[in-house]
Amino acid sequence: MFSIPFYKPSIGQPEIDEVVDCLKSGWLTTGPKTKQFEAEFARYLRRDHAVAVNSCTAALHLALETIGLKAGQRVLVPTLTFAATAEVVRYFDAVPLFVDCRPEDLNLDVADAAERIKRALAEGQDLAAIIPVHYGGQVGGVSGIQALARQYGLRVIEDAAHCCPAYYRDDATSPWKTVGTDAEVSCFSFYANKAITTGEGGMACTDSAERADRMRIMSLHGISRDAWKRYTDQGSWYYEIVAPGYKYNLTDIAAAIGLHQLRKADLLHQRRTQWAGLYLELLADVEEVVLPRVMPNRIHSWHLFSLRLQLEHHSLDRGEVIAELKRAGIGTSVHWMPLHLHPYYRQKFDCQPSDYPCATAIYPELISLPLYPDLTAEEVTSVCATLKQILARARPVFAGHRLPAQANQPVARTSVGQLS
Ligand SMILES: Cc1ncc(COP(=O)(O)O)c(C=O)c1O
Repeated sequence: MFSIPFYKPSIGQPEIDEVVDCLKSGWLTTGPKTKQFEAEFARYLRRDHAVAVNSCTAALHLALETIGLKAGQRVLVPTLTFAATAEVVRYFDAVPLFVDCRPEDLNLDVADAAERIKRALAEGQDLAAIIPVHYGGQVGGVSGIQALARQYGLRVIEDAAHCCPAYYRDDATSPWKTVGTDAEVSCFSFYANKAITTGEGGMACTDSAERADRMRIMSLHGISRDAWKRYTDQGSWYYEIVAPGYKYNLTDIAAAIGLHQLRKADLLHQRRTQWAGLYLELLADVEEVVLPRVMPNRIHSWHLFSLRLQLEHHSLDRGEVIAELKRAGIGTSVHWMPLHLHPYYRQKFDCQPSDYPCATAIYPELISLPLYPDLTAEEVTSVCATLKQILARARPVFAGHRLPAQANQPVARTSVGQLS
């Protein structure tokens, strides 16, 4: 067992009481608590509509359905993301057009996206949309993506799975904006390890009443009215199927948890920010580590604390560092193996490691450390001390002396060929 696991959700008595209330009410599936959660989430984000579903994957799928994505169309997707961002494109037999990441924030590289768009258009491909992701809660190049979308007529469907909440502004004199307020549809995740959780759950947010209606209908079998109303005194037995929909509705049990998670989202964010600050301070002098950058005009959600290990001359590689941390009782993770390196995409679309040099080179260096509100200063200090010890032991030895890390600045990056 881990003494410091990779993640622990912060579930308090209010969540427990609300779930008990839900169980006692006899209404377990989508109902009044889901409606309330949707209303409070829309208000929190200051968007007109929020449609609660059972995952962010479902929200992304419904968002692409509302824009009428067609088979064969291209959708720009960062290669450095979770499976869900691209698989939803494949649900339509459409094609994810992967984009490389940029080293400073690990988000979609807007310049690379522009190049790939030009090449795709030159080949006569039909481009429909772009799905930006904010890596670990580090806000990406929103204005650059919007400019690209305007220039090439792309719909922006935002994968804001890591961003509850995160903020950005265009420059130091512009007003702050909340991530999830600018795209046609912005999709959030409430999976168990996310900033706020319902165990499994998601939200699709939009200012379009038409898109919200369509997503709501498609989230429940394509039925023309909320099924839950059928059993209330406002409802009737009669409904019509207007499209072959899906079964993506959120339960009231999950919404009961979400209501209280949302009410403390800012507090949870403050605590994650505090622990991220402590990590940044305690690891600042470790030469083998490239820390996440605090970017100007960005407020990170700190869903993840992911750093890059530079171990070219060391006796351990990233996998062995993870194993050593595990032996010390510390849970970690890797976000992520880029999608173009996975067998499905390699085989289906002939993706090559060298097609995305930045993500390919950075992937072997990535490691995410535990980051959640209920950590303590002692635990963060202990993770840092353990990591420092592991790295110090792995430093190269020269003529009987362990060299300081500084003397071993990496001379060559991980070569692309190593992964092919
Ligand atoms: C970037 C990103 N997008 C989408 C998802 C999918 O979220 P869910 O598990 O709620 O479907 C995840 C989940 O981890 C994610 O990290």
